[in-house]
Amino acid sequence: MKMWDGRFTKPSDALMESFNNSLPFDKALIEEDIAGSVAWANALERVGVFTPGERDHVVGWLKSILNDYNDGRIEFVPSDEDIHMAVERLLVERAGAVGEKLHTGRSRNDQVVTDTRLHTKKILTDIAVSLTELQRAAVERAKSDLHVIIPGFTHLQQAQPVLLSHYWMSMFAVLEREKSRAAHAAESTDILPLGSGAIAGSGFPVDRDAIAAELGFSRVSANSMDMVASRDFLLETLAAFASAGICLSRYAEDLIVWSSKEFGFVELDDAWSTGSSMMPQKKNPDSLELIRGKSGRLIGNYVRLATTLKGLGLTYFKDLQEDKEPLFDSARNLQMVIKVFTHVLLTLKVREDRIRQDLDPFLLATDMADYLVRKGMPFRQAHRVIGRLVGYCVEADAPLTEVPLAKLREFSEMFGDDVTKLYSWEQAVNSRAVKGGTGRESVIAQIEAAERILASEVGQYV
Ligand code: ARG
Repeated sequence: MKMWDGRFTKPSDALMESFNNSLPFDKALIEEDIAGSVAWANALERVGVFTPGERDHVVGWLKSILNDYNDGRIEFVPSDEDIHMAVERLLVERAGAVGEKLHTGRSRNDQVVTDTRLHTKKILTDIAVSLTELQRAAVERAKSDLHVIIPGFTHLQQAQPVLLSHYWMSMFAVLEREKSRAAHAAESTDILPLGSGAIAGSGFPVDRDAIAAELGFSRVSANSMDMVASRDFLLETLAAFASAGICLSRYAEDLIVWSSKEFGFVELDDAWSTGSSMMPQKKNPDSLELIRGKSGRLIGNYVRLATTLKGLGLTYFKDLQEDKEPLFDSARNLQMVIKVFTHVLLTLKVREDRIRQDLDPFLLATDMADYLVRKGMPFRQAHRVIGRLVGYCVEADAPLTEVPLAKLREFSEMFGDDVTKLYSWEQAVNSRAVKGGTGRESVIAQIEAAERILASEVGQYV
């Protein structure tokens, strides 16, 4: 028997019943469903649908259902087509006929999106907390690796020397933006749907502001049709999650490359690596590969929901039941991605000796061009002069920093004794003390700004 089968002359086909059933996944909403029902019972009491005694009775039994569920003492039955129907059935079984009043002036259409919004708010808070932990790990690394200079890459070709800490702080910076995307999604989610009914608004004059206050929503929806139809808050959430996943996949990729024998810049801790079933020597960076791989799933879940929504008229259609699994899946996986990355980062071994060996003198070519500019040569000319010098070094197989002054002066009269001052990685790095640059002072300023943000959770990191 179904709660809605009054007009039906025969039961659902068993296949239809299981096709329609969302309980296996939407039972994750039980806590929010019960919180929403408690707030609704209170609202109904204020408009006289429940007496205070009936309301207390119903609220007491609703809470008992949640306790029993948490203790593993709830048995669902095949006719429980979703968590909302299951809770209502259990309520009526426990509280008796008075439980049948609870759905007055409410629809599963406003109920389900209330539950989902409450749950999404919680998920977004949890993700933001984890992102902050990862930022903390990035700052920790930036502080302890402050003396390490690495070749910075463009096109995966050595470009200019940078502090490894500058690289770690880039992660802090982008994660600030990932967090602000999540915060914006949370703001879009923070609207109370209850009182919207099935489509037209509740037929009972419930105090929606009071319901919002009780459930912790900061705003009440302005239009009932919009509220039961819209899932843009979920799209925004999944887009924010996909963006965070894409961002972390790029750092994972770098560290995978850096941990190869060919680079050897870093070594992953054994606890965050795995071996091969066949090749005994292997130690694979599977943690990072999975972080990179999961970004595909996070993008997929966004596309999955966007595709469901595209072309869907107003207002509620059962298609919308497909909104929850992408949310749960992305939340669970992104949470793991962030946590694993935090551990990988904190346990990573930086192989300073290997990095130093790898620094190529050509990394200083831009500094040599800048040197000629300081002597008065226009930059384009300086670029050409150094370009020719580099060509000579390649041909002669001579390191850029070992070309004798006499030879340098064949390329430009402007070269003097002082050119050797350029031949230091520290000098190259520290000459970029501009705000946002890789100079030690600049990176220390970045770290200090980040620590202020982490300490107070306010401020802006651009
Ligand atoms: N299980 C449904 C969902 O997840 C609940 C809403 C059902 N509403 C309806 N009109 N059949 O969307």
